[in-house]
Amino acid sequence: MIRKAVLPVAGFGTRCLPASKAIPKEMITIVDKPVIQYVVTEAVKAGIKEIVLVTHSSKSAIENHFDKHFELENQLEAKGKDELLDELRNIIPDDVNIISVRQPEALGLGHAILCARPVVGNDPFAVMLPDVLIDDEGLASNDLAGMIEAYDKSGKSQIMVETVPQELTYKYGIVALEGDEPAPGASAPLTGMVEKPKVEEAPSTLAVIGRYLLPGEIFPILAETKPGAGNEIQLTDAIETLRRQNGAEAYRMEGQTYDCGSQLGYLEATLALGKKHPTLGKGFTQLIKQYASEG
Ligand code: G1P
Repeated sequence: MIRKAVLPVAGFGTRCLPASKAIPKEMITIVDKPVIQYVVTEAVKAGIKEIVLVTHSSKSAIENHFDKHFELENQLEAKGKDELLDELRNIIPDDVNIISVRQPEALGLGHAILCARPVVGNDPFAVMLPDVLIDDEGLASNDLAGMIEAYDKSGKSQIMVETVPQELTYKYGIVALEGDEPAPGASAPLTGMVEKPKVEEAPSTLAVIGRYLLPGEIFPILAETKPGAGNEIQLTDAIETLRRQNGAEAYRMEGQTYDCGSQLGYLEATLALGKKHPTLGKGFTQLIKQYASEG
């Protein structure tokens, strides 16, 4: 059973500037919560008990968000604001730990994951890129839980994928598969993986979407991986080496993703999740209609 998840949050979020100048891009709000809280909730729902943040000195707001705010809680208690207090206390359950390690230099995603090695050890673990927000509404269990189940069955690394338009393949890790594409919620053996290929060289239109389950064996491979695309140490390259040794599977996701690494992605997520919000949804839907009719 996979119980640990690594969340690389050290990046400066240049695609989200100026919003991300003084606050981490992971703390930008979607409706009423910072984006990182959605990702941590997704992990908790899938049974993760240890969240390892790979972070940077300028991003302590993320750790603070998951820490107890004693003075604030005292004040809310004194004022009888029990509902708010409850909400704050339940941002993460008591049996879930948030641990942080630093990435001293921005050398790439692969390098960020390697920084978590002292905490993760040899255990299998999840990697969750916090730019990717996944809406699992209507699913019996979320995609991460589905990946964990597939990992338990096959013992193979699981890489979450979804179809993207051919002309956008250059932005992603792209996978090659043995046979037919798996149905949503199922996995199929990978035959290759390449980071940000030229569009004409992309082996398929199935892109890696920010969720991975990997064994501890990835760490020594990452330590040996040379810089690749963008002159960065790429997680995709290390997974490709691991795949050649042990095999790996692509898990086709069922949920809906929003790319919160870009400004339009934040706006889309705000629209989609705002409409469904239990208390704000009705009023927000009214606003959307009003603004849409104004053309
Ligand atoms: C990263 C990964 C890439 C993946 C993408 C979307 O790239 O390296 O393989 O497809 O996230 O999850 P980035 O968007 O950080 O450049």
